[in-house]
Amino acid sequence: MKHRVYMTRLIAGPAISLIEQVADVRIWEGELPPSREVLLTEVREVDGLLSLLTDKVDAGLMDAAPRLKVISNLAVGYDNVDVAEATRRGIVVGNTPGVLTETTADLAFALLLSAARRTVEGDRWTREGKWKTWGPMTLLGYDVHHATLGIVGLGRIGLEVARRAKGFDMRVLYYSRTRRPAEEQHTGLEWRGDLPSLLAESDFVSLHAPYSAQTHHMMGGAEFELMKASAILINTSRGSLVDQKALYEALREGKIAGAGIDVTEVEPIPLDDPLLNLNNVVITPHIGSASHSTRTKMAMMAAENLIAGLQGRLPPNCINPQVPKE
Ligand code: DGY
Repeated sequence: MKHRVYMTRLIAGPAISLIEQVADVRIWEGELPPSREVLLTEVREVDGLLSLLTDKVDAGLMDAAPRLKVISNLAVGYDNVDVAEATRRGIVVGNTPGVLTETTADLAFALLLSAARRTVEGDRWTREGKWKTWGPMTLLGYDVHHATLGIVGLGRIGLEVARRAKGFDMRVLYYSRTRRPAEEQHTGLEWRGDLPSLLAESDFVSLHAPYSAQTHHMMGGAEFELMKASAILINTSRGSLVDQKALYEALREGKIAGAGIDVTEVEPIPLDDPLLNLNNVVITPHIGSASHSTRTKMAMMAAENLIAGLQGRLPPNCINPQVPKE
């Protein structure tokens, strides 16, 4: 009998074709994620689930899916999946690391440049007919070149952001659980053993830590107090690393100069969120990995993870390899 798979959104065609070679596939084709009710109904008979970061894959879902063998999450982050629960039940979980590293680093840098040089604000200003003349004091921003960048979490993406920063002659500091002497030597990064030191010294702070109970609100009111008044915060990781109310206050009161964020605590950000009234924040809708090529690679990787799990093999990118193979 063919395996059964549920996919919570349409992904790149070649990845769907690959999965269809080994499984009967049902796909949620809506633009918005399936409701919880739909999800719980659809997973009743499935062996494999291809999920997105917008789907909550928890014990309740696993209860509803007694045949589930593999969860393939189309993202490098997997805070939407209860991995411990999956492991307890012998369900393997895959993710899509590596292929989105540089694309996400590009976006982090795009946000950094646009927040520093006020490009989004400048575009709005131009369209609103405010460009009357060349003004010596118009839309002044902050230099990126030769500034100090503080990277929080030196994983793959953090490292690629650091490499880009070196092209702008930036001094790069990093705060990470693991010290990386080779990178310090080759890329000239400087380690800081605690977050406050990094925050106090940096002109730009870019967050690249995964979200967990430990990193929840790692940037809050106390942290913004430590930053320079001219500093800019960049977040392309997960919204809940930042206490968004505290970010709003810090931006409004000028405790920091600006922010560029691709992720928010609630996604999509509600239209009445006060952050949207500020000019010194650039907000993009969680598009860090959104290039044609990268999203295709992610889809292929997710398909391969899914198929391996269906066939009783460990997914090539498996988060819980301790789950025993069949
Ligand atoms: C991820 O992969 O975790 C990103 O947030 C989306 O690409």
